[in-house]
Amino acid sequence: MLLNKKIKMDFISNYIETNKERMLEELLEVLRIPSVSADPKYKEDTVRAANWMAEKLKKAGADNVEVCTTNGHPIVYGDKLIDSSKPTVLVYGHYDVQPADPVELWHSPPFEPVVKDGKIYARGACDDKGQVYMHVKAFEAMMANDALPVNVKFIIEGEEEVGSEHLEGFIKENKEKLSCDVILISDTSIVANDVPSITVGLRGLCYMEVELTGPNRDLHSGVYGGAIGNPVNALCDMVSSLIDENGHITIEGFYDDVLEVSDEERAAMNKTPFDESVYKKDLGINAVKGESGYTTLERKSIRPTLDVNGIWGGYTGDGTKTVLPSKASAKISMRLVPGQDSEVIAEKFEKHINNIAPDYVSVKITRHHGGEPVVVPLDFPPMQAAMKAMNKSFGKEPIPTREGGSIPIVALFESVLGAKSILMGFGLNSDAIHSPNEHYGLFNYYKGIETIPWFFKYYAEMSS
Ligand code: BES
Ligand code: MN
Ligand code: MN
Repeated sequence: MLLNKKIKMDFISNYIETNKERMLEELLEVLRIPSVSADPKYKEDTVRAANWMAEKLKKAGADNVEVCTTNGHPIVYGDKLIDSSKPTVLVYGHYDVQPADPVELWHSPPFEPVVKDGKIYARGACDDKGQVYMHVKAFEAMMANDALPVNVKFIIEGEEEVGSEHLEGFIKENKEKLSCDVILISDTSIVANDVPSITVGLRGLCYMEVELTGPNRDLHSGVYGGAIGNPVNALCDMVSSLIDENGHITIEGFYDDVLEVSDEERAAMNKTPFDESVYKKDLGINAVKGESGYTTLERKSIRPTLDVNGIWGGYTGDGTKTVLPSKASAKISMRLVPGQDSEVIAEKFEKHINNIAPDYVSVKITRHHGGEPVVVPLDFPPMQAAMKAMNKSFGKEPIPTREGGSIPIVALFESVLGAKSILMGFGLNSDAIHSPNEHYGLFNYYKGIETIPWFFKYYAEMSS
């Protein structure tokens, strides 16, 4: 029996080795589809990407493959249910990508993938087409060798990058169909190719928009300037008061619910290999900045943040225009940490903004999508399977890390389906996700395909 199992793992790895080139070609094919979820111009392309994923799932051996239409972009579903007495893994990923702009900063067109220096350059190469496709290929390799040890379901959505609006309704309506014991997601990073890690925390998100209105029309800044409050000036004052000189967010009660991380965990976290001078150099900055009392590693993972994502108003065209604008706006997002709740923070933000707005402007606040933070306990048994799988494929014990990004559906999976997620990603922070020249290492793509069957094997063994 044991021997048989060992042979199966050898078959899987031979299969991957033999089919390497095709597995890459297929990924390049889907990277050519500009499935940008934010831009309605690409609506048909998102449908094309969904159909493509569904087709490949079917080919790999999945049953019940469906492209489920929603009021937004379609959701791809497929499964392979081998034995109802065995546990079920739900694999989640997204086929939608971020907009590619500014396109002029790409060294090669974002939707014409090229492989250069061992990396695949294309929008979505890492986030998340390359990572979700590793699962489809690992599944194919297990199926082809009659070595799928547990039940598996796939859900691949097309709206992750715009807040997973319709996936939430879908999981609520399809609880039975999506029922599972654990969710497996590759949409995060490892520390380095020789420092494997597993993500045990993600930040949440609260995304707001503020619009200030002053006079009822744009005014001549000479005729009225000095006597009338300028909403752009007011917005700048307000924004700059949101963070104090110690890097603390000044919104009343903002930190009330933050669960402080223990000194032990902080000490462990700060042992993660990290070279601040390399970090600064890569970003072209002279100095880092953040909340006092915390290291860079802590600031970008266990602490909440507030950032202006965009700010506009008045005249921004060529040359000059002497205008005292009627309106000013800003998009402001806050990353949240365990303990914080996006709705509560949204209320506190609204109250605070209304409090600090001067009386000569009126305020309109809009809430955009949000999401809750996530922590995955280390003693969760599938986590041990994931650790063991990474240890096997990297030849090194992975370290647990908390990451700063967000995957809002993870908290909803837990509250709606009652299942926790394993965040076993293979990207690198330097992969330029959401930026020009996004890329994904061939090493990482193949390492993912190699690691996933080990997760399934170890998970099945600990469940039997
Ligand atoms: N895959 C990322 C999230 C991520 C990246 C987590 C790197 C950890 C490390 C995901 O696609 C993403 O970009 N999420 C958005 C969520 C938002 C659009 C609701 C984010 O974090 O900004
Ligand atoms: Mn992603
Ligand atoms: Mn993303």
